[in-house]
Amino acid sequence: MSILVTGGAGYIGSHTCLELLMSGREVVVIDNLCNSSEKSLARVEELAGKPLKFYRGDLRDRALVQTIFRENDIECVIHFAGLKAVGESVSMPWSYYDNNLNATLVLTDVMAEAGMKKLIFSSSATVYSAGSPMPLKETAPTGGCTNPYGWTKFMTEQILSDLCRADPEWSVCLLRYFNPIGAHESGRIGEDPRGIPNNLMPYITQTAIGRREKLSVFGSDYRTHDGTGVRDYIHVVDLARGHVAALEYTCGRTGCEAFNLGTGTGYSVLDMVHAFRKATGVEIPYVLAPRRPGDVDECYSDPSKSREVLGWTAEKSLEDMCRDAWNWQKRNPMGYGE
Ligand code: NAD
Ligand code: UFG
Repeated sequence: MSILVTGGAGYIGSHTCLELLMSGREVVVIDNLCNSSEKSLARVEELAGKPLKFYRGDLRDRALVQTIFRENDIECVIHFAGLKAVGESVSMPWSYYDNNLNATLVLTDVMAEAGMKKLIFSSSATVYSAGSPMPLKETAPTGGCTNPYGWTKFMTEQILSDLCRADPEWSVCLLRYFNPIGAHESGRIGEDPRGIPNNLMPYITQTAIGRREKLSVFGSDYRTHDGTGVRDYIHVVDLARGHVAALEYTCGRTGCEAFNLGTGTGYSVLDMVHAFRKATGVEIPYVLAPRRPGDVDECYSDPSKSREVLGWTAEKSLEDMCRDAWNWQKRNPMGYGE
C-alpha cells in the first residue's frame, strides 16, 4: 500500500514525503515540476535512505492519473499540487482556476473510478473571511476571498465537502495551513521560490545571503503591537507531521472535516526580523513601506481541534524556524540551482 502525494517535489510536499518514508510508508509522487526541481526528491530519498516512485506529469492528464492508480495500490492521496502565488493569481486568474480546480476534479474522478476515496487537501487560512475574531477556529466563516488563489481553495473545499455529502464512502481532511516557514534541519531540502520571493521568510533569508538589498516591511500602521502585520508561522516539518497525523485519521473514518495547522501564536514582521537576528546573528536591513494590497492586520489559528482530534501539535520554536531557514539558504544559496 502506498500514499500518492500530488505536488510532492514542492516545498511542503518534499518535507511530507520524507516524514511519510520515515514513518514506514511507501510513497508515490506525481509532479509536473512547474514550480519545483526533481532534485528535492533525490534528496528526500537520500535523507530517508529509501526510494520513492516518481511520475513526472500533470495531474490534469487523466490517462496518467489512471495509470498511476493501475500500477500502484494507493491507500490515500495527499493533494498538494497547485499554483500558489497570490499576486500572480490576480493577473492570471484563468490559469489558477484551470490548474487548481481541474487538477482536483480529474484526481477525485479517477479516485472514485478506482474505488479509493480518501483524500487530504492542502487548504489555507486564506479561506477565512476577513473580520473574524482571532484566534481563528475552524467554525469561523469562510469566503469573501480577496484573490483568485484564495477562491480556488474555497471552491475546492466546497467541491470536496459536496462529494462527501453525496457519497458516504468519501473521507476528506481539509488542512488549513497558516504560514509555513523553515526547512528540514539537515539543510538538504527547503523552500526555493522562483524569482523575487513574495513571502516574508524567503525574502529575509535571501537578504541575509546578499541576493536582496533590503527587506520592505509592508505596512507599519496595522492594529498590532508594533504596527506591522501579525501571522502564525509554523515550521514546515511540524506541518509535514500534521499530514502523517491526518493520514491515520482519514484512513479510519468517512466524511469531511477541516483542521487548522498552525501554532496558535502570532508574530509581527518586526518580531520576525528580530527573531532571525537572535537565532542566526545576521542583521536584516529593512525599510518601512506602504501596505501590500489584500493584507490583513493579523491572522493566527486556534489549533485546539487538531490537538484534540488528530493528536497533533506544532513542537518547533520560532528560533528553530529561523535557524533552519537560514541553514538551508546558506547551504544552498541558489536553492536547487535551476
Ligand atoms: P510548491 O509550489 O512548492 O508545491 C506545489 C507543487 O505542485 C510543485 O512541485 C508544482 O510543480 C506542483 N504542481 C502544480 N500544479 C501541478 C499540476 N497541475 N500537476 C502536477 N503537479 C503540479 O508549493 P507549497 O508551498 O509546497 O504548497 C503546497 C500546497 O499547499 C499548495 O496547494 C499550496 O496552495 C498550499 N498552501 C501553501 C502555503 C504556503 O505558504 N506555502 C500556505 C497555504 C496553503
Ligand atoms: N511581508 C513583508 N515584506 C515582504 C513579504 C511579506 O512585510 O517582503 C509581510 C506581509 O505584509 C505580511 C507578512 O509579512 O504581513 C507575511 O506575508 P507572507 O507573504 O509571507 O504571507 P501571507 O500571510 O501574506 O500569506 C501566506 C501565503 C498564502 C496563504 C496564507 C495563509 O502566501 O498562500 O499565508 O495564511 F494563503
